[in-house]
Amino acid sequence: MNVIKGRIALAAVLVALGTACTSGAPTRSVPPAQSAAPAAPSAYVWNDAEADKLRTMLAAGDPARGEQAFISCRGCHRAQALGRPDGSYPRLAGQHGTVLIKQLTDVQAGRRANEKMLPFADHGVLDTRDIGDVASYLTRLPVPPDNGKGPGTDLATGQAQYDKLCASCHGTRGEGDAAKFYPRVSGQHFKYLLRETVDIRDGRRKNADPRMVEVTRGLPDAVLTSLADYMSRLPVGPTGLTR
Ligand code: HEC
Ligand code: HEC
Repeated sequence: MNVIKGRIALAAVLVALGTACTSGAPTRSVPPAQSAAPAAPSAYVWNDAEADKLRTMLAAGDPARGEQAFISCRGCHRAQALGRPDGSYPRLAGQHGTVLIKQLTDVQAGRRANEKMLPFADHGVLDTRDIGDVASYLTRLPVPPDNGKGPGTDLATGQAQYDKLCASCHGTRGEGDAAKFYPRVSGQHFKYLLRETVDIRDGRRKNADPRMVEVTRGLPDAVLTSLADYMSRLPVGPTGLTR
């Protein structure tokens, strides 16, 4: 336990020194569309059999302990987990606990690449209990409506495409679905939403639901931009576990 605490403290110091975050801008800003998207690893099945385990981790979560565990994350995800409006670091506040736990365990298992974050979130730094704790803390944080927004130039396309292709999973108000591990997208920063949508379309975020890969396949960058813009403007609903 002391070793873990020590490592978390060390990670916090590194963040404080700015060694981990000096690059500022995301290493993967919106990349050009690829002609041949790499296939997801064949052994991976989206959320296969893990769902019950992840829900149990959340149910055992202690938000007060989670607040302590989050100290080492603040250098990047900022106080109150509000992320950065330039999209380099996502908001985690108010995200569904199940989603947070799935993403953290996927990063630990190597299913979602996140080299910057791994030293702060790998096995040995965050154990199973810490992950449940931090998720139960983050999901209860308020989501203020001052997230980074898109240019607002083609919201009609964004809305039409969102309602047609995305709302069935992410909800008509962008509220996601905790039980199904579908992320909430309202209140999130535009540039992060855009980067993730592009990465999922192009097969770079390998832990994504293959049905989302299918739905976004062939959509041009301009449509994804309108979609992310529209999502970033969806009204933020009440927060907490009952959303
Ligand atoms: C060095 C910077 C850094 C630190 C420290 C860091 N993260 Fe992250 N985290 C990131 C980046 C960058 C992303 C987005 C990666 C991407 O664009 O795909 C991210 C993404 C996430 C996500 C996925 C969010 C989503 O919407 O899918 C979760 C959950 C997360 N971080 C939790 C944490 C927790 C908990 C900690 C502390 C234990 C932490 N992070 C520390 C950089 C960091
Ligand atoms: C079949 C359900 C489904 C559909 C349809 C779907 N998504 Fe997703 N989406 C998901 C899941 C599940 C994830 C999280 C994947 C994972 O576990 O990493 C996700 C992740 C995302 C993310 C990243 C969120 C975050 O916090 O990291 C964005 C942005 C997104 N989807 C946008 C869209 C858009 C835009 C559409 C419509 C064009 C769409 N999705 C359609 C299921 C879906």
